[in-house]
Amino acid sequence: MIPREKLHEGKAKVVYATDDAQVYIQDFKDSATAFDGKKKGTITQKGRMNNAISARLFALLEDAGVPTHFLGVETETAMRIRRLDMFKVEFVVRNVAAGSLSKRIGYPEGTPLKNPPVVECYYKDDELGDPLLCQSHLDELGVVSPEELARATELSKQVNSVLGAFFAERGVTLVDFKLEFGKDAEGVVRLGDEISPDTCRFWDSATGEKLDKDRFRRDMGGVEDAYAEILRRISD
Ligand code: TMP
Ligand code: ASP
Repeated sequence: MIPREKLHEGKAKVVYATDDAQVYIQDFKDSATAFDGKKKGTITQKGRMNNAISARLFALLEDAGVPTHFLGVETETAMRIRRLDMFKVEFVVRNVAAGSLSKRIGYPEGTPLKNPPVVECYYKDDELGDPLLCQSHLDELGVVSPEELARATELSKQVNSVLGAFFAERGVTLVDFKLEFGKDAEGVVRLGDEISPDTCRFWDSATGEKLDKDRFRRDMGGVEDAYAEILRRISD
């Protein structure tokens, strides 16, 4: 596939057009940001590792019946994806309290949720800092229809079941993660974006060690090793 013009450069990926209007290429970068881009850095080999991790997890989800945008691996750092019209909503799925949920409802980090998964919607709007939306906000904004919201919520829970079991077998607790959905040319709701240690919290089930981007966000060190460990655990 021949990449053509750059369509979009985000904080962690670049998306290119191809000669097929329905196929894009997404190339994963080593650069990392946190806190709405206020913290910046580089995670060596992150592009290669996140491409490999996302490819493996998208393939797993497709096999389990979750429609995704993944079409195939293109290069060490890039994958072919189906063009989607993305919803302006991020879905965060949580099994264990951590991060902003701990701050919001006062559960210490590591507290198992009583009725998992908690599924939250955030407004994809950088200027507003991606705020949490309640149902009335979603109704008012109208950025996703009730049917799209119901389908994306259902798929989010299915992704949680599939990935939760997959990681548990590999000694990793899937604490929480962020998903983005969109619609393809046929109107099918598909999972897009990426699934990687940038977008998930992964804790070693035995030791509780963090194996994700929190090591970068919280200046804990060992960031590259954590990503490499996740890639190692999922490579069979
Ligand atoms: P949070 O606890 O900071 O709300 O994060 C919940 C999950 O969502 C966590 O796995 C990290 C992921 N996430 C992103 O992928 N992108 C973001 O911009 C944020 C804030 C969180
Ligand atoms: N990627 C987001 C940002 O730049 C936040 C995060 O993952 O923590 O700010």
